[in-house]
Amino acid sequence: SSQPFVFYPSLLQKQPDLPKEFIWPNNDHAAASQAVEELNEPIVDLGSFLSGEATAVAAQLVREACLNHGFFQVTNHGVNPDLIDAAYEEAGKIFELPVNRKLRMTRKPGGVSGYSGAHADRYSSNLPWKETFSFGFSGSEEMPSVVEYFRSVVGEEFERSGWVYQRYCEAMKELSLEIMELLAVSLGVEKTHFRSFFEDSSSIMRCNLYPPCRNERLAMGTGPHCDPTSLTILHQDQVGGLQVFAGGRWLTVKPCRSAFVINIGDTFMALSNGKYKSCLHRAIVNRERERRSLVYFVCPREDKVVKPPPELLCAELGLRQYPDFTWSDLLHFTQSHYRADEATLKSF
Ligand code: SIN
Ligand code: FE2
Repeated sequence: SSQPFVFYPSLLQKQPDLPKEFIWPNNDHAAASQAVEELNEPIVDLGSFLSGEATAVAAQLVREACLNHGFFQVTNHGVNPDLIDAAYEEAGKIFELPVNRKLRMTRKPGGVSGYSGAHADRYSSNLPWKETFSFGFSGSEEMPSVVEYFRSVVGEEFERSGWVYQRYCEAMKELSLEIMELLAVSLGVEKTHFRSFFEDSSSIMRCNLYPPCRNERLAMGTGPHCDPTSLTILHQDQVGGLQVFAGGRWLTVKPCRSAFVINIGDTFMALSNGKYKSCLHRAIVNRERERRSLVYFVCPREDKVVKPPPELLCAELGLRQYPDFTWSDLLHFTQSHYRADEATLKSF
């Protein structure tokens, strides 16, 4: 029919019938609401890793987790909890803007920054039950890019939100570099190797809003996928909905206010010469409560060549598992060829 179709979950949430675009195949949805078993471990205490007391313990936990499924959590990460709360609050203000204002800052096809209502993205042709707001963070010394983005795209009155996210992204960058050290130690690679590689990273920050959904068994918040990026640092609110695929089944990650979820992405999988797994994950929705998450995607500088360090090219591991590529190659590639249930790099 020629009925106009409104693609925004927050406008559709009271509608009894779910438009077919939001109905996911059983396979993708498999046992979403029945995933009662949890995977919360390992929870790595970064405080002791950073002070050098328990480096070996932390590295061993991370190694095990990344060899198996590519997921772990960190606590004592040094990020101020007030900053995390403030980030949720500012995200709320953006999502509460009138639809026409949000539409004016719509993310362009192939672009990384802007607002997006439910949209068919690289993960699937079905629509996710969520709204997102994303922007880049380069972390260079010059102008605070995030503040400028908020001022010019969201509006002058959002300068404060811009500062909150500027600070949040700076904290994420610092944390990401510490985790890079931990990953290097866990792989037996020179400790500063990945830290140096990502020192001039240009990353992506994304705020997710999942409105309640009365057809929670048909819709998906975020379909099953692996992140093409290097490392994802995710914070979820107390509602819950994140699931990871480990040991052949879907498991729930229980929300933990003081922890960040860390997922290995395709690019880090390539940097580890295929040793560490890109984490397959998804987010489900529920009928009662709105859910939010804050996601920081660590990406190498766009033109940097991704290749594993010599330590990971030993006889035991075999030759190179993936060809050289740059993050910008991969980003453009994922826009056209993504398969929901496979790490992007498998289809190279
Ligand atoms: C994502 O993987 O893109 C989002 C996951 C979440 O919201 O928990
Ligand atoms: Fe993801």
